[in-house]
Amino acid sequence: MIVVHLFGRPADLGPIVDLLRPKGIALIEDCAQAHFAEYRGKKIGTFGDLGCFSLQQSKQITCGDGGLTLVNREDLIERASLFIDKGRSRKAGRVHLFLGANYRMTELQGTVARAQLAKGPGLIAARRNAATSLSERLRKLPGIIVPQDPAGTNPSWWLYNFLIDEPRVGVSAGHFLRRIGNGGGARDAAVPAAPAVRGGRDRASATRSVRAAFRTALLPTTCRRRSKICPACRNSSAARSSSRGTAASRLATWTESRTP
Ligand SMILES: Cc1ncc(COP(=O)(O)O)c(C=O)c1O
Repeated sequence: MIVVHLFGRPADLGPIVDLLRPKGIALIEDCAQAHFAEYRGKKIGTFGDLGCFSLQQSKQITCGDGGLTLVNREDLIERASLFIDKGRSRKAGRVHLFLGANYRMTELQGTVARAQLAKGPGLIAARRNAATSLSERLRKLPGIIVPQDPAGTNPSWWLYNFLIDEPRVGVSAGHFLRRIGNGGGARDAAVPAAPAVRGGRDRASATRSVRAAFRTALLPTTCRRRSKICPACRNSSAARSSSRGTAASRLATWTESRTP
């Protein structure tokens, strides 16, 4: 199972891990947007069998492109190293043990990535301060619903996502965003899985394209019977908030140097 820590906000890993472990189902954490985020005092990426981080240019830290994978299982370390190196084992005499890609990072990128890793905590602290300060201000505006993270999670704010309750605000979300201006960094955005969760006109095409990509994988957002697979999916705060307010959900682009 792949869990995505969207926008830098940790998923509620506890119940997911409890569900998967007894069944022996592997967990991959997609931390591409969530470097240094924490769940119950531990860095995300350390809960699953694998934790994957993107170092593409828009992320909290970058080395131009590429990424990092934490391998949290002894038995997968060698396979993961071979996977990024064409499946070719030097130990076994430079033979290809399985089909792999050439995902090796260059030394130059590695050097930049190491320097960025060292800067990470400072950059994330600045993002957290800015996000807290923005939430304090936005919370005072009727109809603006600021991100609310469960106790025990500490996001790293790749983007700042918030909801606009249009009837309460009294103007359309588009109008609101135009008035605060692009300088505010907010923009329209749709969460790709949301139409499939909500049903409606886009559901069939969203489901078709996700199925084409993932074939037989049963994703909670695409399965019509998701409530039977996992009641937690139906009741998750993500599912509730996507059916409640995706039409008006907005993202603020965000860097550690943004001030509200
Ligand atoms: C949630 C998520 N997963 C995976 C990726 C892919 O990362 P990369 O572009 O480094 O391959 C991204 C990139 O934006 C992402 O946001």
